[in-house]
Amino acid sequence: MKDQQRVFSGIQPSGDIHIGNYLGAIKKWVELTATHECVYCVVDDHAITVDYDVKQLPSRTFEGVLTTMACGLDPDRCALFVQSHVPEHTELTWLFNTVTPLGSLFRMTQFKDKARNALQRALDKKQGGARKTALHELRRTGMGALALCDELRIDLEALNPDATADNPMALQEQVMRINDRMGTILQQLQVGLGVADASCGLFDYPVLQAADILLYKASLVPVGEDQEQHLELCREVAERFNRKFGPVFPMATRIKGEAPRILGLDGNQKMSKSLDNYIGVLDEKDRIISRLKPAFTDPARLRRDDPGHPEVCNIYSLHKLFSDGATCARIDEECRRGTIGCFDCKNQLATAIDTHLAPIRERADHLRAHPSIVLEALATGRDRAGQLAGETMREVRDAMGIGPQALNRL
Ligand code: TRP
Repeated sequence: MKDQQRVFSGIQPSGDIHIGNYLGAIKKWVELTATHECVYCVVDDHAITVDYDVKQLPSRTFEGVLTTMACGLDPDRCALFVQSHVPEHTELTWLFNTVTPLGSLFRMTQFKDKARNALQRALDKKQGGARKTALHELRRTGMGALALCDELRIDLEALNPDATADNPMALQEQVMRINDRMGTILQQLQVGLGVADASCGLFDYPVLQAADILLYKASLVPVGEDQEQHLELCREVAERFNRKFGPVFPMATRIKGEAPRILGLDGNQKMSKSLDNYIGVLDEKDRIISRLKPAFTDPARLRRDDPGHPEVCNIYSLHKLFSDGATCARIDEECRRGTIGCFDCKNQLATAIDTHLAPIRERADHLRAHPSIVLEALATGRDRAGQLAGETMREVRDAMGIGPQALNRL
């Protein structure tokens, strides 16, 4: 008998799945299939919220599914599918939009980061006159907002509830003017934040994620630490829905992976595809070696015999994840005494990682040679997910008074 609580998680089809994804989440996905009912998907509806290559998306989605299976996920022990194959995800997103406060979405750091990065990239791409125009626009809107702030201050200072108590018309006019100014300021600031050009879809990303989880009434979500804020939003949405329409949804909590936060090879930011500081789970040994070669180590080790400090070295922390206890103890000692160089240490790490990943690569090769295994798994997963999703949606439509059933009860 499996635990009653359902598990849900998703992963982006954004290309290589890396060892950070693997240790931070997917290994946990696999473990949980032994004890819980698990629903996992490759989230292509999320992937299209940023600029993407239409031609490449299908193969990335396929590779995403294939890689999770290669990592050990058995599609007979969970529902594994592609998000866009179950349209209820987007339907529930719309319904959740009606209970989600704009303010909560504006606080999402991932949205702000992505919008800002897109603005930066757009600026970087522009040259000469176009760049000048863009910078001028940034300055014009920022300055415009500042000027309006001055006028807003004057309006606010003039707002005296006691003096206007006997003249409601004048008060109303004042409030309207203040409101208009605030609206214009907000619009102009959006340019500087990069959010004026971001899509509604990117803004709504966390609501779609909440719909993913709650469509299956899942309460356990194995994901990396960076997703905590999105899970907070998921709880807020569930809470607001339940308060308004009745107790339908559970509160979701995050399940930590074996290594919740894996640093990238630059040694200071999280391992991520977009920062190109990662080792892919399907990387061959020579690629692992060339990836590790320039990787950041203990800055105190300038020469081979300088004594090192494994506790501050990101390479050592990777050893702890991939090498056995005895090897780690030996490397710790040799590093402190300055008898092993970073080059050797990295080579040993490459071997350990390669040993770990070799079976995953083999399974991936096998699946790539037999794509029907993957496609059949997806068809079954979609059926199972679709069935659960259908049940939840009937309940949700009933609770909200929409859908054909609502009219039958008139
Ligand atoms: N946003 C998640 C990420 O980037 C992916 C995701 C989408 C997800 N929907 C989800 C994770 C639902 C957990 C549950 O990693």
